[in-house]
Amino acid sequence: MSDAPARDREVVAGAIFHGGRLLLAQRTRPPALAGRWELPGGKVEEFESPQSALVRELREELAVEVRCGARIGVDVPLSRGMVLRAYRAELVSGEPVALEHSQLRWVDAEELLSMDLVDNDRAWIPELLEELSAL
Ligand code: C5P
Repeated sequence: MSDAPARDREVVAGAIFHGGRLLLAQRTRPPALAGRWELPGGKVEEFESPQSALVRELREELAVEVRCGARIGVDVPLSRGMVLRAYRAELVSGEPVALEHSQLRWVDAEELLSMDLVDNDRAWIPELLEELSAL
């Protein structure tokens, strides 16, 4: 791995809706973000598509198989030229388990507003709420 700054690299996060609720995951790291909630996901590897990365990350983090759907919400700029994007993720099989988070929670619209989301993911609240109120 080189120490050159990453440029135009993507981090993907998945919005899994089920039974009128959205799955949130509580981070364990870094210390500044531990305890805060996010849409699960992670970095797209070199030569990997964002869709494949989302499927891989959610398999690694939640032990589920998903199909990657449409984008949700805005691009969120991260440090070092990276960008965070949310995609819908449709559960194909498995029941989500917190393999890399401290806990998982299925939230409705009202609960979403009361959760301590990581700042980056707050950018998607309008679209997530719209989806939850349409379910
Ligand atoms: O989860 P991971 O640490 O691999 O994520 C890489 C970067 O993307 C981190 O800076 C993390 O804070 C950010 N991220 C985020 N919201 C998510 C997923 C990741 O802000 N839902």
